Amino acid sequence: MSGEDHIRDDVMVEARDDVMESFGGEYPIVIEGLRNSFGHQVIHEDLSLKVRRGEILGVVGGSGTGKSVLMRSIIGLQIPDAGTIEVFGKNTIGAEPGEEAAVRSRWGVLFQGGALFSTLTVAENVEVPLKQFFPELDPQLRHEIARYKVVMSGLPEDSTAKYPSELSGGMRKRAGLARALALDPELLFLDEPTAGLDPIAAANFDSLTRELTDILGLTVFLITHDLDTLYAICDRVAVLADRKVVAVGTIPELLQLDHPWIQEYFNGPRSRGAHESHERGKSVDNNAERKA
Ligand SMILES: Nc1ncnc2c1ncn2[C@@H]1O[C@H](COP(=O)(O)OP(=O)(O)O)[C@@H](O)[C@H]1O
Ligand SMILES: [Mg+2]
Repeated sequence: MSGEDHIRDDVMVEARDDVMESFGGEYPIVIEGLRNSFGHQVIHEDLSLKVRRGEILGVVGGSGTGKSVLMRSIIGLQIPDAGTIEVFGKNTIGAEPGEEAAVRSRWGVLFQGGALFSTLTVAENVEVPLKQFFPELDPQLRHEIARYKVVMSGLPEDSTAKYPSELSGGMRKRAGLARALALDPELLFLDEPTAGLDPIAAANFDSLTRELTDILGLTVFLITHDLDTLYAICDRVAVLADRKVVAVGTIPELLQLDHPWIQEYFNGPRSRGAHESHERGKSVDNNAERKA
């Protein structure tokens, strides 16, 4: 065995001991009684939410209702005034630094707007979390892992050497997704991933999200206001309104509720369009199956 192989083995063993035991419980995220505020502006009050293992949970709500703040609280970037947030069964608020880092390596995040480092290539962007969490990793192996994540995210191999400015909007999102997947996370946070994409790029990104979720066994917290995304790939939808999660369920379940925002959102003309195109898509699939 060469010296290099030896280093790799050590790194992997250490990594597995620290963080790699995957979560077997039903709810990887459990939030109770959450309160967030900025000065006098109260964003969340007594907010509760459970995210099921293996689901894509769509999170919707009017602009400024606190979807991004909610995500930031879960990943520890926003310290709440009150409440508890458990991720993988562990309280994330006020966790010890070592413990916190171990949990942090088990999720990946695609922030609103993508936020790639513009001075780094795509591969180098994906290598950032690998460097951070596995500093001893052999650079060549690190690059190889990054290349694999880039290809897995549906980008051509030659895009690894490109800079974000050389990519289309849809490709930048895929690069951001590759970076979010760098550490083989169990949990994936996506904040408005299809915002600003044309409908075809958005639909392609949606299919990729669904496919990777199923193949990799991910749990996905997906903030969106894209109705097509909700119909196409979300298992359940959580609705943020009145400073809390007012409802969680499948779209048909939500349609039964008489909350004014839910009715306006899911029964408006845009929703009907999304629903109809989803139904049309399904019948096209069925026809294709029948012919095959
Ligand atoms: N760091 C901050 N400081 C002050 N106010 C903030 C901060 N971050 C978010 N807010 C406010 O909190 C509210 C919710 O924001 P956000 O979660 O970004 O909304 P959205 O649901 O559109 O993602 C908004 O009114 C926003 O202005
Ligand atoms: Mg937001």
